[in-house]
Amino acid sequence: MNAPRKLAAGNWKMNGLRADVQEARKLAAEFPSSAVDIVLCPPATLIGAMAASLIGSAVRVGGQDCHVAASGAHTGDISAAMLSDAGAHHVILGHSERRADHDETSVLVAQKARAAHDAGLVAIICVGETEAQRDAGQTLDVVLGQLTDSLPERASATNTVVAYEPVWAIGTGRTPTLEQIAEVHDALRANVPDRAIPLLYGGSVKPANAAQIFAIPNVDGALVGGASLKASDFGAIVAALGAA
Ligand code: PGA
Repeated sequence: MNAPRKLAAGNWKMNGLRADVQEARKLAAEFPSSAVDIVLCPPATLIGAMAASLIGSAVRVGGQDCHVAASGAHTGDISAAMLSDAGAHHVILGHSERRADHDETSVLVAQKARAAHDAGLVAIICVGETEAQRDAGQTLDVVLGQLTDSLPERASATNTVVAYEPVWAIGTGRTPTLEQIAEVHDALRANVPDRAIPLLYGGSVKPANAAQIFAIPNVDGALVGGASLKASDFGAIVAALGAA
C-alpha cells in the first residue's frame, strides 16, 4: 500500500477576525515548503482572504462544514462549490460540535462528503466517542459505526481524511493514553475502505504532546483546535509531524 500522507490540520472553529490572517502568513513563512500537508480551516468569513494571502505557499485552506446541495434556498448555509470557489482545498465534516449543536447524523455527514467530493474538496471526516460511551466500553463500536456510516462509497486516500476526536478530549486539556489512541487508530486502519486514507488524532494536541502522539503507529497527523490559532504553537506541531 502507498503510505498515507501526513497532515497537520488546524480548526479555528468560530475564532478569528481579518487581522488574524497574519497567523496564516507567519505559518507559511515558517514552512515555505513542507514534507507534510498543512491546512488551516478558518471561519468561512476568512477563507477568501486567507487563501489569497497563501497563494504560492505550502499552506492550504479548508472550510469547517458544507451543505449537501450545490446551491439553492438554504439561508445561512455554504456549499462545497462555494468553499472551493473561495480558495478552499479541504472541508471538515461531522465535527462533534456540529453533530451535537446541529444534530448532524453520520448519514448526513456522508451526504455532505459526497457534495465535497463532487466539488473537488478533500473531506476531513470526524469520528469519536463521548466520555459516557468510553466508560461503557463502547468506544470501538461507536467509532467504527460512525466510520461506516459517514464515509461515502467513493472515499479514497485522494479525497478523504479521517480524524479520530474523542469528544471528551476536545478543548479540555485531557487526552487518551497513547495505548487508547493506538487501539482506535489500529481499528480505523483495518476498517477504512482505502488503507492509505490519512488518520488524524484530534483533541488537546499541543506542542508539548505532539511528538508522542505522532510516534503512535497509524497516526498520520493531527486535527488541532486551540493550538492552531497561533502560528508559533501550530508551527511547532507541524515541525513535530515532519520529524516523526
Ligand atoms: P482542541 O480541538 O485541539 O482545541 O482540543 C480539536 C478539535 O475540536 O478539532
